[in-house]
Amino acid sequence: MDDGAARAGAIYDEIGRAYASTRRPDPRVEAAIRTALGDAAAVVNVGAGAGSYEPPQTVLAVEPSAAMIAQRPQGAAPAVQAAAERIPLADGACDAALAVLTIHHWADPARGVSEMRRVARRVVILTWDPDHAEAFWLVRDYLPESIALDRSRMPAIAQVCEWLGGAEVTPVPVPHDCVDGFFAAFWRRPEAYLDPRVRAGMSNLVRLGAPVDRAVAALRADLESGAWHVRNRDLLALDEIDLGYRLVVSR
Ligand SMILES: C[S@@+](CC[C@H](N)C(=O)[O-])C[C@H]1O[C@@H](n2cnc3c(N)ncnc32)[C@H](O)[C@@H]1O
Repeated sequence: MDDGAARAGAIYDEIGRAYASTRRPDPRVEAAIRTALGDAAAVVNVGAGAGSYEPPQTVLAVEPSAAMIAQRPQGAAPAVQAAAERIPLADGACDAALAVLTIHHWADPARGVSEMRRVARRVVILTWDPDHAEAFWLVRDYLPESIALDRSRMPAIAQVCEWLGGAEVTPVPVPHDCVDGFFAAFWRRPEAYLDPRVRAGMSNLVRLGAPVDRAVAALRADLESGAWHVRNRDLLALDEIDLGYRLVVSR
């Protein structure tokens, strides 16, 4: 393992130990990813984590964190402890390279995307558009500090498309009963954000620290008083919502 992979892995070695308990794949998100992969017969999963959303045709998982690799299920594809910025595969080795909710963690996402293009003909990236930050009530009403953090680490969608030399962008709506516990998954189940185990699977909340305690206390008070339900009444009638998750696909 090189130094870059060691640095990249250190963060999830710290925060990712219980990841597999709250971050399970959602079947609707998974279906969108499978459609984007099309008939790719050999896939490299980059920033693969514990193996969520990993398709059966995966030939290699690239993941810098030993704690995440340790949570991969038995029988999963072989994993190499490495970073996206240096994928240990030959040029054109795979039909597709997949990266799910990971590029905002990469020290050099331009380099990582270029590596994905080098090793595969098709690149499929599930990411999040930082311009949507204020669409989510948790950020807008309780945790505006998240906006600056997300802008500092989430590449703009247009930037990702440019790195790919052009790409199709498809919104991935978040179902009201989303199985995966990513940041905006509980948009219609606000009580979930009061649970520290749920928050522990959300890297931005782990990174933000103190402001999160204040935000959670304010949310708890609004749930007890009914103020949250008054302010967000319209959401309760929706089955899914666009909160900025995007599939970016280049063929
Ligand atoms: C939110 S998890 C997503 C894991 C998995 N793709 C999923 O959808 O559950 C982000 C992952 O990116 C990994 N990561 C961080 N820096 C990376 C890098 N430079 N290259 C590849 N993966 C990296 C982390 O170790 C972590 O496993």
